[in-house]
Amino acid sequence: MTAPGLFITLEGGDGSGKTTQASLLRDWLESEERIVVRTREPGGTEVGVLIRDIVLHHRGEVSPRAEALLYAADRAHHIATVVRPALERGEVVIQDRYLDSSVAYQGAGRVLGRDEIRDLSLWATEGLLPDLTVLLDLDPATARARLDAADKPFDRLEAERDEFHARVRAEYLVLAAAEPERFLVLDASLPADEIAEAVRARVTALLAL
Ligand code: TYD
Repeated sequence: MTAPGLFITLEGGDGSGKTTQASLLRDWLESEERIVVRTREPGGTEVGVLIRDIVLHHRGEVSPRAEALLYAADRAHHIATVVRPALERGEVVIQDRYLDSSVAYQGAGRVLGRDEIRDLSLWATEGLLPDLTVLLDLDPATARARLDAADKPFDRLEAERDEFHARVRAEYLVLAAAEPERFLVLDASLPADEIAEAVRARVTALLAL
């Protein structure tokens, strides 16, 4: 079902270094003459930017199921209008966060149930799964210290307690163990260039297939 391109997602807690790794991977792939689309969820489209504002910055309550549906709506539109077309053109899509974020944050963090949340995302995307998911694994205390050092105001999810982030982390590791052929799990406390090298090795193998 996957189109000729390559769909790579980056996952991990807030402060795990996904943005840095996405940039390093894009720079390397472009130096190898690949066409790369770098994108993210939530907020990879105009509609998504509006949804992102609600899920991350709305000041009042957003009920857990409404939150899950907002992420799913963002994803449905993003995959249909940005990601699938790029994959069909044979391009490499590097995406910050995808359905595993929903399973970890809404499924485990908000305790909505992993199977329902996964099914919701698969319905939203007509079953699109990444070719590779890089999980940047970091303990919540180190992640929190990084976010504090960055000195930016916390969004709704970042402001959750460490116990929430511990559940998110544990769920990510369960997901990775269940699909070892899709996931590459890396220790996010390692230097960025070491992590980038491990990602490049895995992507090189995929591109050679
Ligand atoms: P992110 O874009 O990584 O935040 P930042 O711009 O601050 O680096 O992600 C925004 C938040 O949304 C993050 O805390 C995780 C959360 N999230 C979910 O809860 N479910 C989802 O399906 C997605 C994609 C993100």
